[in-house]
Amino acid sequence: MGSQRTVPQVRASKRRYGADPLVMVTAYDAPSGRVATEADVDMILVGDSLAMVVLGYNDTLHVTVEQIAYHVAAVCRSEPTALVVGDMPWMSFHVSAVETVRNAATLVRAGAQCVKMEGGAKRIPMIKPILDAEIPVVAHIGLTPQSANVMGGFKIQAREAAAVQTLVSDATALEEAGCFAMVIEGVPDVVGAMVTEAVSIPTIGIGAGVSTDGQVLVYHDLIGLENRFKPRFVRRYGTAYEDQVAALAAFADDVRSGAFPSADESYQATDELAEALGLYGSQPTESEGS
Ligand code: KIV
Repeated sequence: MGSQRTVPQVRASKRRYGADPLVMVTAYDAPSGRVATEADVDMILVGDSLAMVVLGYNDTLHVTVEQIAYHVAAVCRSEPTALVVGDMPWMSFHVSAVETVRNAATLVRAGAQCVKMEGGAKRIPMIKPILDAEIPVVAHIGLTPQSANVMGGFKIQAREAAAVQTLVSDATALEEAGCFAMVIEGVPDVVGAMVTEAVSIPTIGIGAGVSTDGQVLVYHDLIGLENRFKPRFVRRYGTAYEDQVAALAAFADDVRSGAFPSADESYQATDELAEALGLYGSQPTESEGS
């Protein structure tokens, strides 16, 4: 495997300047980190979607910096080749600049090379201190799940001209503030294209059409482990849920029928141990048995 992707490499990955599209997936533990490396993705996001796809909550608001850091560390123990982005969860960058920098540093100390923050230009006062602490920042605009209560749910954004203008001006302000990449979520495809055109940093879309500089999907959606609901922008590349149910059901059948474990899957006692336990004497020999 190659060396780990860096922030400057990702910063330079703009399709209009000839770069290949960026591939980002979420991951939350060492096995998914290993899979992401084997599949040669460019960026791993240890996202606050952790709250929903791993921890079982109905929104992303229930996950803390400590929990994200715990999962960043697990991913990083797999020695990923992708750039690792730690997601700043709700309330980790809303109270004060000091707390914000400390929280971002917690994710960096856990192994993240940069952090992601949801929200438009109004987040810049909290983004700047993080950048001043030498922590690179990925912005996240459009459908920002941490604002689900304000948005009235996970609703597609920028459906009206005024909202599109605000989104584009947020994007340019975030680039100017120093963000090195930007996730755009849940907007019409033309809006994804307009934002991508308006900025010179790479945009990474999720439900933002084909024109962004990269695409991101949530790991559990992509492999089909999350099978309860499927937003339009999700393409399932696997049937992990069904595969895992089938594997566990086959295990259950084998245990109940006595087919598992076999002798080959068991540890045999040495002759000395068997003799010391008196097992030879109590076993009928072939000639006695016949
Ligand atoms: O937390 C997350 O998984 C995300 C992606 C949907 C971009 O923010």
